[in-house]
Amino acid sequence: MNNIAILCSGGDVSGMNPALKHFVEYTKQNNLTPYFIYDGYEGLIDNKIQEASYKDVSGIITRGGTKIRSARSKRFKEKKYRQIAKDNLDAKGIDSLVILGGDGSFAGMDIFYKEHKIKFCGIPSTIDNDIYGTEYCLGVDTALNIIKTSIDAIRDTASSFGRAFIVETMGRECGYLALVSALTSGAELCLIPEKEVALKEYEDDFKTQIKNGRSYFLSIIAEGAKHSSSELKEWFEQSIGIESRVTVLGHVQRGGNPSIYDRLMAYKFINYAIDALIMGKDESVICYTNKGFVYKSIQEVVSQKYALDTKLLAYL
Ligand code: F6P
Repeated sequence: MNNIAILCSGGDVSGMNPALKHFVEYTKQNNLTPYFIYDGYEGLIDNKIQEASYKDVSGIITRGGTKIRSARSKRFKEKKYRQIAKDNLDAKGIDSLVILGGDGSFAGMDIFYKEHKIKFCGIPSTIDNDIYGTEYCLGVDTALNIIKTSIDAIRDTASSFGRAFIVETMGRECGYLALVSALTSGAELCLIPEKEVALKEYEDDFKTQIKNGRSYFLSIIAEGAKHSSSELKEWFEQSIGIESRVTVLGHVQRGGNPSIYDRLMAYKFINYAIDALIMGKDESVICYTNKGFVYKSIQEVVSQKYALDTKLLAYL
């Protein structure tokens, strides 16, 4: 193994740029030649593969997103395009890949490995934190900090104006961002896909709180929750009798200056990923667990569905 490439696939996260920087540093320390594949699997098919240098990564540690861009590729699901991708790698003598992405991206890579024996190591990267087998995915801490700053700001106006605010977080089918944000921001209500809530059960309590002097509410709702943000707004206004506003945080959660934790995790994930490939591990995902970093097989990671930590869920 001499030539090793990295690509980003799926939703970008803050922490990818620090990972790219350390990828160049750590490959060179190990006498390997680093390559960047631009635009994810799309770029692999379109031969957007370039040798990377220190110059390419200078100054990027502070930037969110990914310098080599990311994409979701439909074409990579087709065998004929995977063959083109393999030919492109062969032409540059690359036989090992590091993939920053989610489980969908890893599943695509697994097929590619089985067909063409291109070795890879996956680094879990998604703000949703919904990959089976790892307790942490790159980008989550930065996203949580952005949500925290937003909720803290919303609290200022909510308390000044006496309103109920509904803050909607991302996460697809996973309520991790919403749950952790609600617990750490002191929200009165949290709705996530993993736990069904009958709003009626909160009515008496919330009305009593208003009688006792509460003037505003903060509620956090995950985008995949059963109730929508507008339904929750309606409920606050009709059933609780308090004026209400919705803030959908949207893609601001995906960007921004990478937190210290994400910079450090990017560094460690990259070390473990490159070490795995040097050690001859062909198709693994580097997972962060309560026992530290462990390599898991791609089968284990993609064949099971992530479930929220039951202890965390119990705090709701
Ligand atoms: O998977 C990351 C994520 O940001 C989800 O939280 C969200 O549902 C989705 O991607 C948004 O996708 P897009 O950027 O294509 O709108």
